[in-house]
Amino acid sequence: MAKTLDLYLHDLEVHHQVDPRLTALINHLACTCKEISFKVSQGALAGVLGSAGSENVQGETQKKLDIIANDIMCRACTESGFVSGVASEEMDHALQVPEDCEVGPYLVLFDPLDGSSNIDINVSIGTIFSILPAGEARRQVKDEDFLQSGRHQLAAGYVIYGPQTQLVFTLGFGTTLFTLDLGTGNFYQTVEKLEIAPQAKEFAINCSNMRHWEAPVQRYITELLAGSTGPRGKDYNMRWVAAMVAEVHRILNRGGIFMYPKDNRDPSKPGKLRLMYEANPMSWLVEQAGGRATNGKQNILDIQPEGLHQRVAVFLGAKEEVELVTSYHN
Ligand code: AHG
Ligand code: MN
Ligand code: MN
Ligand code: MN
Repeated sequence: MAKTLDLYLHDLEVHHQVDPRLTALINHLACTCKEISFKVSQGALAGVLGSAGSENVQGETQKKLDIIANDIMCRACTESGFVSGVASEEMDHALQVPEDCEVGPYLVLFDPLDGSSNIDINVSIGTIFSILPAGEARRQVKDEDFLQSGRHQLAAGYVIYGPQTQLVFTLGFGTTLFTLDLGTGNFYQTVEKLEIAPQAKEFAINCSNMRHWEAPVQRYITELLAGSTGPRGKDYNMRWVAAMVAEVHRILNRGGIFMYPKDNRDPSKPGKLRLMYEANPMSWLVEQAGGRATNGKQNILDIQPEGLHQRVAVFLGAKEEVELVTSYHN
């Protein structure tokens, strides 16, 4: 019989002295994502598809579900009693806990809905989260309180809304996978410890941007595309779901490398993906599964953040592939 999420979290408290408020927060996030999962599954029937007509701080047009998922996550976190504040892709600044709610020792950052362009076409999307210590921050939490490197994360994970709804997370004791049973409403552990093979046969990158990449990325991808007669001496397969959550999920389950490099079109942007609520949690999940994650120059988890919505180039997955493309940059 597969382990329930409750039982797994209880084991962490007993065997790894994890704070019960942290395990309770993880459980609470899992419950919250069940609510988002239900809305996603209803689609047009619940009127949640399409654009909201507004823009977020990064200048992206928000989908209705970006806002719905953000509201659900914000309310769930700030009313939980376990957090001092939250930060999200969809909000300009950090959100404090309302006066009438308890505060707790954690900060939660999230991408409420990753893969927005997939919403209306019924393709996999997800919710990504990262938990940091609040330190001295309490009622008056500020943006700066969140600017801690990925190494400070106490938990990281995501829920993917695909053919199955699955929860993948780490508290530093390996990356584990739970599947939502729609019959009982429980998450059951279906993979105890995910492991990414050091070599890869599959890569993911948006090749339509190839002409805008920097030389090291051009070189690496050209070599992969050359296949068995090229310098790598083997054929590679390519995938692109256009949702980081789905690419990382595939890599955690069957290996490969994912890249979203810097683009020469806008030199002021170091990448497309966001460090705090996309790259950091995904990088820790990948490292905990034996993989690697860099921005081409340094380990993503070692980057000292300077802004809540800071962007970063991302190369993550199979250790040897990430090391190779990183060596081309250095
Ligand atoms: P979000 O939907 O949260 O804004 O993130 C979308 C990101 C990421 O999930 C994905 O890897 C990438 O954008 C897709 O980019 P392309 O549009 O270039 O395919
Ligand atoms: Mn977005
Ligand atoms: Mn995203
Ligand atoms: Mn998003």
